[in-house]
Amino acid sequence: MQIAHISDLHIVADTGPVGLVQPDAVARARALIRDLSAFRPKLDLVVITGDTANDARPDEYAELAGLLADLPIPYIVIPGNHDDRHLLRQVAGEQAYADADLMYHKRDCGQARIFALDTLSQGEIGGRLLPPQLDWLAQEIGNPFEGHTFVAMHHPPCAPRMGRLDKAILLEGQDALRSILDAQRQTVTVLCGHMHRPFSAFFGRSLVSAATSTAFQFELQLDAPHEPPTSAAPYHYVIHVIDAQGGHVMHRQTPDLS
Ligand SMILES: [Fe+2]
Repeated sequence: MQIAHISDLHIVADTGPVGLVQPDAVARARALIRDLSAFRPKLDLVVITGDTANDARPDEYAELAGLLADLPIPYIVIPGNHDDRHLLRQVAGEQAYADADLMYHKRDCGQARIFALDTLSQGEIGGRLLPPQLDWLAQEIGNPFEGHTFVAMHHPPCAPRMGRLDKAILLEGQDALRSILDAQRQTVTVLCGHMHRPFSAFFGRSLVSAATSTAFQFELQLDAPHEPPTSAAPYHYVIHVIDAQGGHVMHRQTPDLS
């Protein structure tokens, strides 16, 4: 089975320039949806780790809803710091949410199970995981499972060593999350976004795979004191292939977004 991971579409309803977001961000997101839809063998799930809209406006979520209506593949979506979780929840429809407000939930998909976490902390760029959500995760992830376990969240749980950007990761719940994941018998893969740059890391025993953005990407500047300049590097997303024995392989797919 195949799971694609994308993030940070930053859908904008305005046609003019909006901050760092490329003017053709919506067209690029639409091209990405086409690529995901056409991929063969057919994808089993798409995981979208937040920042779906840029300014959390209703018209941006209407645009997002139209895009996702063209995706013939089940998907998981969780909020990022640019999202409004109530508007996003209307787009995502009724899921098995474990909370009346937050969007954290579990999805089983063949040999994979995905714990989708909601790290949005209103008014902050960084994210937080508070005890009710961590308690839910600790209880649910402890249930026996023979396949591969993913945790999906917008904010990286560990710093990418990119200077100023390191201050905008998961700000609360980091140690508790690491303890929960390290206590599992099998290695967990953490899918995140937010940094607008792809990177991989180890977070305790867990592998972190951070997706980049279709809307804009940052140049690699390690330990930069300021926000790095944007980059014109080709966009890619990652396909996670899980086999019946729980084996896990990651491949880069570089779609044509023009
Ligand atoms: Fe973002």
